[in-house]
Amino acid sequence: MPTSPLVRAVLIFVIGLLVLAGGAAAYLWTLPPKPGGYVSSSGTALVGGPFELIDQTGAVRRDGEFRGQFMLVYFGYTYCPDVCPVSLTNMSTAIDMLGDSDPSLADQVTPIFITVDPDRDDTAALAAYAEHFHPRLVALTGDMDQISAAAKAYRVYFAKVEDDSASDYLVDHSAIIYLMGSDGAYISHFPHNATPEEIVSGLRRRLTS
Ligand code: NI
Repeated sequence: MPTSPLVRAVLIFVIGLLVLAGGAAAYLWTLPPKPGGYVSSSGTALVGGPFELIDQTGAVRRDGEFRGQFMLVYFGYTYCPDVCPVSLTNMSTAIDMLGDSDPSLADQVTPIFITVDPDRDDTAALAAYAEHFHPRLVALTGDMDQISAAAKAYRVYFAKVEDDSASDYLVDHSAIIYLMGSDGAYISHFPHNATPEEIVSGLRRRLTS
């Protein structure tokens, strides 16, 4: 097919453009992805965060209302046979010991219990349970989505465990007492078997009289 020099020149020009465009596309394809989009660990533990739950009186409680207070946060469940009662007792005893020496120190700390078993731990169950511990204990429940969100924020693991020998199920869960600062940020944590004395000394280092 005869073609005029002008048509040939246009064709060569268009093919040249296509080659350039293809080269540019291939180049962009091989570029590494831009950084950003997520924040990697900067050395500060990313524990804690917003929650919206219901306390043992039926009132809605949000984490933001505790700003200005230190929080001792513990996740567990009222049917827990051993670990939870000990942890909550030690938390409560620690706050009382602090209060015996200086009530203004104890008043800075709010003990918080968040259930990982909302199916059984309704507000009535929490109200009965909380009476065994500190009078200022805030015991929280919610629906499973709210509980899961709070547990995830605090990096708490929990899972139902079927026990053939028991008529009821158990809940396997992390047992850590978190100390959160007056700004809501994570400060430190205690193991579930920390003694009241150990919790008191940990609190004293952070509280100001
Ligand atoms: Ni427990």
